[in-house]
Amino acid sequence: MGRLQKILIPFLGLVLAFWFYSARENFKPEMLKGKRVIVTGASTGIGEQMAYHLARMGSHILITARTEAKLQKVVERCLELGAASARYVSGTMEDMAFAEHVVKEAEASLGGLDMLILNHVGTSYFGYFDGDVGHVRKLLEINFLSYVAMTVSALPMLKESEGSIVVVSSMAGKVGFPFTVPYSATKFALDGFFSSLRQEFSIQSVNVSITLCILGFIDTERAVRAAGALLAAEPAPRAECALEILKGAALRRRELYYRYGSTRLPLLLRDWAAELLDYLVRSRYRLDGAGGGPSPPAPPSLSRN
Ligand SMILES: NC(=O)c1ccc[n+]([C@@H]2O[C@H](COP(=O)([O-])OP(=O)(O)OC[C@H]3O[C@@H](n4cnc5c(N)ncnc54)[C@H](OP(=O)(O)O)[C@@H]3O)[C@@H](O)[C@H]2O)c1
Repeated sequence: MGRLQKILIPFLGLVLAFWFYSARENFKPEMLKGKRVIVTGASTGIGEQMAYHLARMGSHILITARTEAKLQKVVERCLELGAASARYVSGTMEDMAFAEHVVKEAEASLGGLDMLILNHVGTSYFGYFDGDVGHVRKLLEINFLSYVAMTVSALPMLKESEGSIVVVSSMAGKVGFPFTVPYSATKFALDGFFSSLRQEFSIQSVNVSITLCILGFIDTERAVRAAGALLAAEPAPRAECALEILKGAALRRRELYYRYGSTRLPLLLRDWAAELLDYLVRSRYRLDGAGGGPSPPAPPSLSRN
């Protein structure tokens, strides 16, 4: 009996794993053709790349950020790449009324919404926590509360289209990271809010998917400027990252890990060997000096808004 169990249980596990993964649908670009999509934080970085991929797939795109001149250029490029339509709204996500206005704009110009991609991120510093409570509050407004405000405004349209919400988060939203304390707090808040909301959708049979994206180090200008010199890791390409996010969203995945090896695998340690994971995170930083080294300087370009 004991021997049978030893063979049967792993065998059943393998059969189940095979069934689970083989039954999963594959991504096809046509899945996003004609879809009405909002991408926030799309003037640069990963958001800009998502807009270009969506354009190639023939989506209707509404992008937003603060810098109008950059948004104009992204929209022009999207139209060249084949977007079904492309438009922008500029403004700051510090203002919840603006966050709601972007959604209203999608309703007015696109007649509905299939996908809400929440990607923007406010400027913070890279260094030891400086005790500035006001900065934590402001960052929570930009990185968290505006995501909530947009979701609340967009939900009637997303319920109607049985659409998707995509929340771009970070490894720093799953495990404590040094030198980004306020940022990390805002990303943890996103996980709490959207993972709980997903549970309620499931209970209420609301067919709106929520994909939480856990990203590692990506080669956007901001990230490389802030952490490139201190992180002992090669950043992953932003265009590939953007495409993986869209694939995960189209397939209505619960969570998306990019790159898988440097995000999902280390996180497997979180519940069983949390101190080892903490150590591995710290060991990714090049720190000089004794006792943990000096505070990494906050580059001037990362000064607060
Ligand atoms: N790059 C990485 O290594 C990395 C790692 C993990 C997670 N992530 C996540 O991936 C997402 C994209 O990151 P990224 O590196 O592509 O960022 P990025 O290059 O710095 O782009 C940030 C975007 O947000 C916009 N933005 C900033 N402040 C804003 C505000 N107050 N109101 C409205 N829009 C604002 C920026 O445009 P304007 O300045 O024109 O407003 C820009 O379009 C973020 O959620 C980030 O946390 C990135």
